[in-house]
Amino acid sequence: MCGIVGSVGETKLRDYLLHGLKSLEYRGYDSAGTAFLTKEKLEVFRLPGRIDDLNQLVPAKMHGAAGIGHTRWATHGEPNFVNSHPHCSQQGYFTIVHNGVIDNFRSLKKKLQNQGCKFQSETDTEVIANLMEMHYLKAATKNPLDAIKKTLEDLEGSYALAILFKKDDTKVYFAKLHSPLVIGKGKNTNYLASDYVPMLDYATSYYIIDDYQYGYISQKEVVVKHLDPNEEKPLVFHQTDLKVIDIGLNGYPHYMLKEIEESPEVIKRLMDNYVDGNQFVFDDVLIQKFQEADQIIFLACGTSYHAALVGRRYFESIGKTSRVYIASEFAYYPEVKGKHPLFIFISQSGETADLIRCVKIIQQQGSPILTITNTKGSSLDRASDFTLLLYAGMEIAVASTKAYIAQVALLAILRAALIGNTEIITDLIEVEKAMKGLIGAKLEIKAIAEAIAKEPNVFFLGRGLDYDVALEASLKLKEITYIHSEGLPGGELKHGPIALIKKDVPVIAFVSDQITAAAIRSNLQEVLARGAKVYVVSNQALAKEEDDFVTRNTKTYLSPLTKAMVGQYLSYYAALSLGRDIDKPRNLAKSVTVE
Ligand code: AGP
Repeated sequence: MCGIVGSVGETKLRDYLLHGLKSLEYRGYDSAGTAFLTKEKLEVFRLPGRIDDLNQLVPAKMHGAAGIGHTRWATHGEPNFVNSHPHCSQQGYFTIVHNGVIDNFRSLKKKLQNQGCKFQSETDTEVIANLMEMHYLKAATKNPLDAIKKTLEDLEGSYALAILFKKDDTKVYFAKLHSPLVIGKGKNTNYLASDYVPMLDYATSYYIIDDYQYGYISQKEVVVKHLDPNEEKPLVFHQTDLKVIDIGLNGYPHYMLKEIEESPEVIKRLMDNYVDGNQFVFDDVLIQKFQEADQIIFLACGTSYHAALVGRRYFESIGKTSRVYIASEFAYYPEVKGKHPLFIFISQSGETADLIRCVKIIQQQGSPILTITNTKGSSLDRASDFTLLLYAGMEIAVASTKAYIAQVALLAILRAALIGNTEIITDLIEVEKAMKGLIGAKLEIKAIAEAIAKEPNVFFLGRGLDYDVALEASLKLKEITYIHSEGLPGGELKHGPIALIKKDVPVIAFVSDQITAAAIRSNLQEVLARGAKVYVVSNQALAKEEDDFVTRNTKTYLSPLTKAMVGQYLSYYAALSLGRDIDKPRNLAKSVTVE
């Protein structure tokens, strides 16, 4: 988590740093800061708060030759002034911003303290700055790049660093390990940022920094070294087509609402990219890997994990043994049965640390990895054998909506490709229509949302695919409303959770499958008998007169696409009625780049 930027050259530094940080705010928004370096002085501005607050703090005329900036998701120390980045070394030689976690910072801090170093903050980052200073002062060469290299050799953990060295305002130094960092080349200015987006209006070509690389940018130069000199290679800068992607609010009050309503376009875009007439467009080698695989293992976290649950049912239904693991669990208990597993990583951001940790484990055993991601050039994209892009467009709201839709739809298309079932094309056209109908009827969902928002606990029920959706709807609700919520399989209620049901507790049930419709309705009778307030979300084919919201019919296997949208609207409108910060819910960040 955390977003970092840096720049040196002719561009208006304040504009780049603050606009850049604003576009990285999705990565964390507990506190923020910038540092501006000129020959005469270094000026640091930081505070607990948002980028808009920082904008007020940094004088409008502030300028500098080189600068860095940070938006924080706290890992070490609460989000207060002293823990905000940038952090300076004791004698002020090095000023740094950091995204990542230094696992051995305690022992390094102790060593520095034993040598008389005094710390202002509780952060691991301040330790890095002071280590650099220690190495710099100790070495006869007095070369900041050597001091940085020596420091990196001491560090265990993850870092993307942008570094100012007080005696040289012509450079911004950097280093990267397991946290993303991109260099952008512009006209007489070079840039650093955690992703491309801050640089879209500035740079003309990009270089994604690899693990263990470090170096510096200056106005005209980009110098990239590797901790292992044998690994040094020529730099290849590339263009990005991201400019065409719309990242504005376009009149919507929140990104989340905009992104929910982009779902029909997302389905269309996936079909445009993966279906050509009656042919599927997938790499033949990937299809062969699926055919050879004796089991499919999905790894994912959060919402992407919920999409993987649906994917497991899809592949099981065509005879492929499939399992789903939460990546942070698999990382420590990597059980693999079967000789030829194919791993599928699902990740909107492609930067989730828990997944990146699993890559290494799987690579050691030599199994192929397919990553399904929304982020071209992300760490997972680059580390995998195959990538399928979601083409969902940038997702900015922290709560994932359209990316989930894209993940499920792409898994359905992949399943269809594996069995040569072109009916998916008409099935997805039906889904698009059902989604548009749903957007038109959203105010009906709003009324339910406003009723449930008043309650401290909400339960979602479903069976089969509806259970997978219940889990996702529940996660969405807790993320942005802070209402306690659980998603349950209808049949499990009576095995314990029914003890929590009492008068007026909202229970929302998804009913999309003929096979389980009667069973879930009978579960609802059990909670009704105990005073719960029941809301049923069904489809036209299974609807009863008393149901609260009815979606248009789609094929049952695609029902998560419309039902999840209902869950997204429910959360959105409940959060709205509670006055929550919908796009930036408390304690969360969009890319979870720490373990
Ligand atoms: C979803 O609303 C979340 N904010 C979160 O659960 C997210 O899905 C999870 O962190 C995984 O992220 P990824 O898809 O980028 O890997």
